[in-house]
Amino acid sequence: MRVIICENYDEMSKEGAKIVASQITLKPDSILGLATGSTPIGLYKNLIELNKNKEIDFSCVKSFNLDEYYPISRENDQSYFYFMNDNLFNHVNIDKNNTHVPNGETKNAEEECKNYDKMIDKAGGIDLQILGIGQNGHIAFNEPDKNLITGTHVTSLTQNTIEANSRFFNDISEVPTKALTMGIGSIMKAKKIIILINGENKHAALKELLNENITTDIPATLLKVHPDVVLICDKAAYYGK
Ligand code: GLP
Repeated sequence: MRVIICENYDEMSKEGAKIVASQITLKPDSILGLATGSTPIGLYKNLIELNKNKEIDFSCVKSFNLDEYYPISRENDQSYFYFMNDNLFNHVNIDKNNTHVPNGETKNAEEECKNYDKMIDKAGGIDLQILGIGQNGHIAFNEPDKNLITGTHVTSLTQNTIEANSRFFNDISEVPTKALTMGIGSIMKAKKIIILINGENKHAALKELLNENITTDIPATLLKVHPDVVLICDKAAYYGK
């Protein structure tokens, strides 16, 4: 795993955007794996700017998001569907038909998950996956557990994640307790991965990525066996102060 330590959040976001921009330049029809949460917002802002300045072109890009709350309406401003439109898709020249977020409105979650993996495979697999990390080491919504699931699946959120994500909702009781998420296998199939980590509160999780151990109690540690991962972090996350 290659580690890039940045001065602060802005620098981290720029570094991340540079890698995404190179990917799109080298392969204009790239398949991007996209993440939500507060972490990638700065990276998305940089991509919007680069697109405005005609430095990158999203017209042939396809995207697959990692996860979505379940159940949730796509109109709910806390849905990841809404988030992606609001923070990226509405502001760049991507064809919305080429963007995919697991459908939190589905009546048949199992079917939705199976189809999601099939769609990714059919598109040719993810070229570059962008990841954030939960304070408890989760990636997408793969929460710490004895067993982790390979493909896209329905999962229950841990109390830690519900509490961490409640900051975006009016009240903690509004946070959905389930989600649809790509599995560890779906993520590991990506050809390249960048994981962004900022802030002191992610220091403990980041440290676990830098030691030699792999454990399903910290799902992100599985990334250590992937051949092409770049960890981009700020000093606060790296040094814990
Ligand atoms: C959520 C998402 C993850 C994200 C994580 C961290 O639960 N499912 O994909 O990486 O939280 O979020 P934040 O970037 O807001 O800290």
